[in-house]
Amino acid sequence: METVVSGIRSTGNLHLGNYFGAMKNFVRMQEENNCFFFIADYHSLTTHPTPQNLRQNVRKVFAEYLACGLDPEKCALYIQSDIPETAELYLLLSMNAYKGELERATTYKEKVEKHPENINAGLLTYPVLMAADILIHKAAKVPVGKDQEQHLEMTRQFGNRFNRMYNVDYFTEPAAFNFGESLVKIPGLDGAGKMGKSEGEGNAIYLFEKPEVIRKKVMKAVSDGGPTEPNSIKPEAIQNLFTLMNVVSSNDTVKFFEDSFNNCNIRYGDMKKQLAEDMIIFLNPIREKIEAFEADDLYLSKVMKMGKEKAHASSSKTVKEVREIIGINYL
Ligand code: TRP
Repeated sequence: METVVSGIRSTGNLHLGNYFGAMKNFVRMQEENNCFFFIADYHSLTTHPTPQNLRQNVRKVFAEYLACGLDPEKCALYIQSDIPETAELYLLLSMNAYKGELERATTYKEKVEKHPENINAGLLTYPVLMAADILIHKAAKVPVGKDQEQHLEMTRQFGNRFNRMYNVDYFTEPAAFNFGESLVKIPGLDGAGKMGKSEGEGNAIYLFEKPEVIRKKVMKAVSDGGPTEPNSIKPEAIQNLFTLMNVVSSNDTVKFFEDSFNNCNIRYGDMKKQLAEDMIIFLNPIREKIEAFEADDLYLSKVMKMGKEKAHASSSKTVKEVREIIGINYL
């Protein structure tokens, strides 16, 4: 079995984009791999140093993981800060991560531009912490989106550099893993680009969203006056509606609207109504599970502890070995 590691930051709740872009594949991967999935709460602190209700947020995202089908018996499902060994490995790896290379990371440059008032050391060393998350379990595969591939390249760099520095063959190279064709990019509702929490409230449909909110958001989705020529190429906003419909509606429904688009008699109001109803049907059972898990404080705590223990077993072994390799062993 191969070891798989991935994390999601706890700064927002899971939306349909996360579901089809990540969760659905995590759920599949847990069947055949040794999986570690965690909530990256330390990483969230790099941009949200004083979060409101950290505890409540983390528990909610945890409930969302469970509601999507991650099974605490099949994978290690835990919270990053529950494994202090990660912080120790991060410290040790940071001794041979260079300022220059960290400053060249695209995500760092973007964040510096967006938030010049909070350029903290944690932000600069974000990739080192991510490397620690991955190397601590000696992951072979890391399912991440395109925007994280540079961090993964840096992880390989840090691991290899460690091996060279101490003349060992200790860390192996983790590979980015995406599902190729089966990975659906979910667009947002604002007519351009992917679904995301930073693109404004109306752009994303969250997994916990109530039917009336889904209806409101979908009805406000960007569309246009409709095609004027048969079989036109779809503008991006319209293609986005179809992409969304493709993941939640039946083939017949999609075909009906495809045909009416091609015949120029499509009514986007009707299409959005249908899309909203199908999203509601799709999300209802997930929302109900989120609510049930969230309400069950004891169960959540129990599962968090279980994940912590599983992750601890593998991470304490790594840190012990790394200390020995470096020579931190004075007793
Ligand atoms: N940086 C990742 C993101 O923003 C989250 C993350 C933290 C992660 N540690 C990780 C992903 C380790 C994969 C492996 O999406």
